[in-house]
Amino acid sequence: MKILVLNGSPRPNGETAKMVNVFEKEAQEHGHQVDVINVCNMNIRGCLACEYCHGKGNGQCVQKDDMQKIYAKLSEAGMLVLAAPIYYHGISGQLKCVIDRFYAALYPKAPETLKKVAMFLSSGDPDMYTGAEFSYDGDFLGYLKLEGMGIFTNHDEDVMNKIKEMVSLL
Ligand SMILES: Cc1cc2nc3c(=O)[nH]c(=O)nc-3n(C[C@H](O)[C@H](O)[C@H](O)COP(=O)(O)O)c2cc1C
Repeated sequence: MKILVLNGSPRPNGETAKMVNVFEKEAQEHGHQVDVINVCNMNIRGCLACEYCHGKGNGQCVQKDDMQKIYAKLSEAGMLVLAAPIYYHGISGQLKCVIDRFYAALYPKAPETLKKVAMFLSSGDPDMYTGAEFSYDGDFLGYLKLEGMGIFTNHDEDVMNKIKEMVSLL
């Protein structure tokens, strides 16, 4: 399966990256094709709410920035992994910008190929995940009806084993 991982942490050796790295290695060992995109290194602007994508654009975003690379990967991925640090009770702004831009590609419907989703979250304090969980449950499981493979956090001492176990279920 093709798996797209969007890492919204600007810290290449941070807590989010540690979970992403374990996932990437394990998933590759299980024969999956994993693309990790560090969205903080990209030029991705916020959604303009212009509705071009749902009119003349026919699913294409009017903004021609690095989001085009993500749209290309998203159109063929079977699984999406959203990885981010918590900033002010929600996912980092860098990843939030990407999710808002999903409006062109995942609204009103995800591509037929996209079936699964997981979330990796890192925070300073435990119990800081309510905002991110709300979006995961509401937007990705509820609205898009993707199969949730779980939310994994840096405050779980056993998180790396749990990530490996999740990979074995893909
Ligand atoms: C701008 C900013 C806002 C943050 N806001 C929160 C917060 O609301 N709650 C929290 O527990 N940690 C907060 N943190 C701490 C980070 O979530 C935490 O250090 C996280 O592990 C960083 O992930 P990383 O190592 O992948 O970059 C914040 C950090 C930054 C830089």
